[in-house]
Amino acid sequence: MPTSPRYALLATGLSTALLLASCDSKPTTSQDSAATTTTAPADSAATGTNASAMPTSASFGKTADGQEIQLFTLTNAKGMKATISTYGGTLTSLLVPDKDGKISDVVLGFDKAEGYLSPEFRKSNPYFGALIGRYGNRIAKGKFTVDGKEYQVGVNNNGNSLHGGKLGFDQKIWTAKPGSDSDGQTLTLTYLSKDGEEGYPGNLNVTVTYTLTNDNALKIDYAATTDKATPVNLTNHAYFNLALGQSKDVLAHQVTIPADRYTVVDANLIPTGELKPVKGTPFDFTTPHAIGERIAQVPGGYDHNWVLNQATGQHSAATVYEPTTGRTMEVTTDEPGVQFYTGNFLDGTLKGKDGVVYGKHGGFCLETQHFPDSPNQKEFPSTVLKPGETYHTTTSYTFGVRK
Ligand code: GLA
Repeated sequence: MPTSPRYALLATGLSTALLLASCDSKPTTSQDSAATTTTAPADSAATGTNASAMPTSASFGKTADGQEIQLFTLTNAKGMKATISTYGGTLTSLLVPDKDGKISDVVLGFDKAEGYLSPEFRKSNPYFGALIGRYGNRIAKGKFTVDGKEYQVGVNNNGNSLHGGKLGFDQKIWTAKPGSDSDGQTLTLTYLSKDGEEGYPGNLNVTVTYTLTNDNALKIDYAATTDKATPVNLTNHAYFNLALGQSKDVLAHQVTIPADRYTVVDANLIPTGELKPVKGTPFDFTTPHAIGERIAQVPGGYDHNWVLNQATGQHSAATVYEPTTGRTMEVTTDEPGVQFYTGNFLDGTLKGKDGVVYGKHGGFCLETQHFPDSPNQKEFPSTVLKPGETYHTTTSYTFGVRK
């Protein structure tokens, strides 16, 4: 039986959907979606719904070996738009209203696939907006033991494995299927991570569904099944700046994280196993604090996992308020942890959409997750998925304004 409450035994509906989902890693384009024109936000806002319209699609470029990359645009009734690329299942833009109703982009990224494939991007790999797997965050030395067998997975970060290893899910072409349901437009992405890929055991069938809801939430549902026991920890690596284009850094954003403890890490950001109270430290975000208020007291900046007070069921992982634009973002999840990372490694070498240069603290990430290095930390909630179980986790980013 699964030890972690997030793994339900195969529910027939979900397992059927997973089995039906194509596991081909070649990109496909839905003819329906290609033929559909963009929904006019004003009209849909007037009717209050655009649930019947489908996402649109366009070419986003090609990989170095000539594979087509598609870009899908999801639109909601209030004029919000999310664009998602089949390369890495990457959220490339997210258009959100501010307090005056002005809609603009709040995530870091590029207009064209080349931005994600450039040598500069590949060198620093900040994982802008990408789906992360098979294991989000770090595994010490890339080693773990499952079912009595030791595995060595790809090492790419100071001798440790980060975000899936050398060729993680962020660099794969996902198969995309646009759709729409009563909540809003959807994009379902599937990918088969083969037994042995990056050294991980088991064929892992992954399905990720993005939904742009008509009440201004971007919801991400992650599901997976395997034929051998394997660690799984999926997340999204979007960098937010709720005042993008107006503020070069995110230091004025006010953040609340309902977590009384965080996981203490060593110099290479590997957890020591200690869960330390945040009280009286710069890690205390149980009440709102500007990111910049105490960041100088944290060497390098924030790049830590907070232990959320609620570990199961949908709960808040963070709330963010940006005073200039009035934008708010609430992150809810069923995961026990969140990595709050303040773009510490951005150094101005990458220039993104609208010519914006991404410098230090130019964006922040809230990566909902199980704790780093869980495969080697017996006290942390388990990340091992077994055959016959279904991995399922949901995170939503809901946008609003405060006037
Ligand atoms: C995560 C890690 C960081 C860094 C970024 C990508 O947030 O915790 O240390 O690697 O991804 O730059």
